[in-house]
Amino acid sequence: MAKKILILSASPKKDGNTAMLVNWFCKGARAKDVEIEIVLAAFLKYKSNGCTSCRVCQKIKEYECVIDDEAKPVLKKMAEADVIVMATPLYFFGPSAQLKLIFDRMFSLFKWDNEAKTMQTVLKGKTLVLIASAFEDVGLEVLEKPFALTAEYSGMKFKSLLIPNAGVSGTIKNDAAIREKTISLGREIG
Ligand SMILES: Cc1cc2nc3c(=O)[nH]c(=O)nc-3n(C[C@H](O)[C@H](O)[C@H](O)COP(=O)(O)O)c2cc1C
Repeated sequence: MAKKILILSASPKKDGNTAMLVNWFCKGARAKDVEIEIVLAAFLKYKSNGCTSCRVCQKIKEYECVIDDEAKPVLKKMAEADVIVMATPLYFFGPSAQLKLIFDRMFSLFKWDNEAKTMQTVLKGKTLVLIASAFEDVGLEVLEKPFALTAEYSGMKFKSLLIPNAGVSGTIKNDAAIREKTISLGREIG
């Protein structure tokens, strides 16, 4: 069966560095039998500014967010994917706010029993891939941390591609080395 790869491309620049990296990643992944869906996460229409901590998701049996907006079906797709790719520019040493808005709503993909001290998640066994770029050569290792820790906590495999010195939006378009590196990550994951 084809591997399901869901990509959250989370830059507000539709033709910038993140978009380029996602294209190259897909080029590599498509060498294998994969089903790829790209979600332009920065353009989703939200009914709330991120997770509202309503915790209704903890009281229902489904692993779903009860906020009925464009992020809801994306979260469902995350639960169904084999690989979740999160692609983001570095914004002040963290991911884009647009990615964080949906990232926090992954709360609904977990069930905690605080008394029994147990946690279950539909993310277990999947692979999380982080693709991130920055103008400078510092900060990406800080950005990587919450993704790596979330993957570890959730029982996901984790892989990252960090591109420092990527310049402003669109600069990496002609960088053959980054292109090759990103295509080969796609090949490895696909
Ligand atoms: C709001 C904002 C914050 C940024 N913060 C950083 C930063 O802290 N460090 C850095 O090296 N680059 C920073 N950058 C540069 C971007 O991370 C970098 O140019 C990235 O490759 C752009 O990707 P994009 O074209 O997909 O948007 C920032 C850019 C913006 C617009």
